[in-house]
Amino acid sequence: MEQYNKKVMQHFLKPKNVGEIKNPDGVGKVGNLVCGDIMHVFIKVKEIKGKDTIYQIKFQTLGCAAAVATSDVVIDLAKGKTIQDALKITNQDVVRELGGLPAIKVHCSLLAEQALSEAIYDYMIKKGKKVPKELEEKHKRNQEHEKNFHDKFKCEK
Ligand code: FES
Repeated sequence: MEQYNKKVMQHFLKPKNVGEIKNPDGVGKVGNLVCGDIMHVFIKVKEIKGKDTIYQIKFQTLGCAAAVATSDVVIDLAKGKTIQDALKITNQDVVRELGGLPAIKVHCSLLAEQALSEAIYDYMIKKGKKVPKELEEKHKRNQEHEKNFHDKFKCEK
């Protein structure tokens, strides 16, 4: 069976970005339909050089080693990025940054991408910003996924 590499284990055992932000500008909450693992992302956004920029970002994940490691890395990737650039981060970027995941654990990296995009969506809605069509569609898919998740696991939102 494929093992986790050293980098994945480091991010799992010593994640740097765990925590909750008080009065966040956006929160993303998603669950993995396969296993029931949950991730929350909290962001603070401010205008830097005329662009909305993520200047603070933290996560809380209840999940497997891959879920925690990919959460930690997606935060590293998104920190300091403009909203537009952060929206371009995919689960494949996260897996690449980690130097790979065992094939059976690649699905875990989807949580990281989804939670980040949900936090940005939440921020845009709260601030009355125009949501790009692609993000709107992604949000709809995430919502459908969430509904199935709560139907399956009967957990609190
Ligand atoms: S097994 Fe649940 S996210 Fe990895």
